[in-house]
This record gives sequence, structure tokens and C-alpha cells, in this order.
Amino acid sequence: MKLITAIIQEDRLDNVREALIQADITRISVSRISGHGRQEDIEIYRGRRIAPNLLPKIKIEIAVNEAFVDPAIDAIIASARHGEGQIGDGKIFVTPLEECVRIRTRERGCSAI
Ligand SMILES: Nc1ncnc2c1ncn2[C@@H]1O[C@H](COP(=O)(O)OP(=O)(O)OP(=O)(O)O)[C@@H](O)[C@H]1O
Ligand SMILES: [Mg+2]
Repeated sequence: MKLITAIIQEDRLDNVREALIQADITRISVSRISGHGRQEDIEIYRGRRIAPNLLPKIKIEIAVNEAFVDPAIDAIIASARHGEGQIGDGKIFVTPLEECVRIRTRERGCSAI
């Protein structure tokens, strides 16, 4: 199992949710966060690098079985990009997921996802 964490732009949320549904990925968590990525033009004031402004972003978390990792990534890329891809379009992180438990049934692991 893997945990897919995607940081995307706010205006792409509905598009990404739709693409995930089409890829048969129906369980997601969404949070409103703020962040910044790398700085292309690092602003310098009095010799010090200035922290960039935090921008509102959307964080999507999806726990999936292995077979759904690549379909999820493909769906997110296709639906989150602006045009052929623009700076700030977002990032996807994939981390190993140790365990998953469905509270209602006590199911664990792949079948609980
Ligand atoms: N290495 C990182 N660690 C934690 N959060 C990150 C990281 N990279 C990006 N993010 C989050 O993702 C958001 C979008 O990042 P962004 O798309 O600007 O990435 P980037 O590496 O700057 O690439 P690009 O050059 O395409 O802008 C950031 O605002 C931040 O919230
Ligand atoms: Mg950036």
C-alpha cells in the first residue's frame, strides 16, 4: 500500500477529483493548506534571502493498493496541469503505507483500503 499526497492548485480540485473518479479512485481526503515551492528568483533584501509568500494550495491524500499508484499519478498529472505544465502546478509524493484499518469492520490492509 502507498499513500499518495498531491499538492495542487485550488482551481484544479474539481478537475482532479473528476479524473480520479474516472480512474476508479473514489476515496480521497482534501485539505486546504498553504505553501511555497522552489524560488526561481530569490529575492534578496539587505543581503538576506527573503522567504516567499505562502500561497493557498490544496492537499489531496489517497491511500491505494499498489496497482492504483500509477493510475492515480497519471490521473493527477493530466488533470492538475495548466496547459502543457506551468510553474507552481504542484507536486506528488508517494510514501509507503504500513497499515490501514476500516473501523467499522476491523478489516486491515489491502482489503480495508
Ligand atoms: N519539497 C517539498 N516539500 C514540501 N512541500 C512541497 C515541496 N515542493 C513543493 N511543495 C508544496 O507544493 C506546492 C507546489 O509546489 P510547486 O508546484 O511550486 O513545486 P516546485 O518544486 O516549485 O516546481 P515548479 O518549478 O513547477 O513550480 C508548494 O506550494 C508546496 O506547498
Ligand atoms: Mg514552484
